[in-house]
Amino acid sequence: MNADELKKIAAEKAVEWIEDGMTVGLGTGSTAYWAIRRIAERVKEGLSIRAAASSVRSEELAREWGIPFVSLDEIDRIDLTIDGADEVDERLHLIKGGGGALLREKVLAAASDRFIVIVDESKLVPTLGAFPLPVEIVPFAERLTLNRLRELG
Ligand code: A5P
Repeated sequence: MNADELKKIAAEKAVEWIEDGMTVGLGTGSTAYWAIRRIAERVKEGLSIRAAASSVRSEELAREWGIPFVSLDEIDRIDLTIDGADEVDERLHLIKGGGGALLREKVLAAASDRFIVIVDESKLVPTLGAFPLPVEIVPFAERLTLNRLRELG
C-alpha cells in the first residue's frame, strides 16, 4: 500500500468520530485532504455539520465539495478537529506546522474540544526535530520575533 492509500485509510477512520450537529475543524495538508473528502461524502449522505478550516486551501475544498462552512468569527467552540502531523515519536509527542497553516491552525486547535491527529507510518520517528518548519512572523510582533530568532542563533 502506498503512502496516499495509508493516509486515506487513517483519515476516513477519523471521520467516523464526527456526529450530527457538530462544529468540525478541518486541518490542512495531504492527509487532511482525505478527511475533508470523506466528510463531504458524509454530508452528501445526510450528515448535518458545519465546518471551519485551518487554511484557505482547506476552506476552498470544503466550499467546493459542499461542506457547510463557517468562519471562526461565527462560532464559540469547535467540537472536533481532524488534522495531520509532520512527525510523531513513540510517546505520541508530535510536530505540526510543516504545511504552513501557522497561526490559523493553532487557533483552531486551541478552540477544539477534541483534536484527532491522523498520520501514516512515514511520520513515525525516534526523535522529533528533523522536519523543517516554517516560522511565522506576524506583523505586530516582527521585531520581537526576529530578536528571538537571533537569540536562538
Ligand atoms: C499544516 O501546517 C500542518 O500542520 C499539516 O497538518 C502537517 O504538515 C501534515 O501535513 P501532511 O498531511 O501533508 O503531511
